[in-house]
Amino acid sequence: MNTTSLVAAFVVVVSGLIWVGTQGNNADWTGNRNQCVGDCYENWKTENGGGIAEVEGIKQAALAAASPAALGEKYYGQCIACHGGRAEGGIGPMLAGQPTTDIVAKLTAYRAGEERGPQSSMMYPVAKPMSDADIDNIAAYVAGL
Ligand code: HEC
Repeated sequence: MNTTSLVAAFVVVVSGLIWVGTQGNNADWTGNRNQCVGDCYENWKTENGGGIAEVEGIKQAALAAASPAALGEKYYGQCIACHGGRAEGGIGPMLAGQPTTDIVAKLTAYRAGEERGPQSSMMYPVAKPMSDADIDNIAAYVAGL
């Protein structure tokens, strides 16, 4: 088989595939293909314990009821790279077991842009967006490690 007939065969096969594909389309369908309305949504509600608003409400309530340490553990995800998975230290110092008051004081200082150690600049962008609650939660988490 020479190149020309190979190309011709390829064109025929691809055209055939495109044709087969178009035969499966429903010409009446104009909406968003991901829509789940009517029976589909009723089924979803049965499976998930309520409508979207209820499910979201349940999630928020669970989050509000979580302990400070549990919330701190969640926030700690972004600290792992530098302070280690168990806060045992790495690029940054060991945090595990430090008293909550120390952790709170140190993070509050970084958040205020104060210089503590020689690498404080690494902590400024981390501490800046933290709320008081975030700091308390982190302190509760690492103090218990
Ligand atoms: C990019 C690396 C990096 C990330 C990410 C990071 N840290 Fe740090 N952290 C450091 C370094 C480096 C120091 C030492 C800074 C200095 O010299 O003052 C430090 C210091 C600290 C200290 C003071 C420790 C002590 O005993 O002096 C605390 C508390 C702290 N980090 C908490 C956190 C928390 C909580 C997070 C996550 C929300 C976090 N860090 C994320 C690098 C990082």
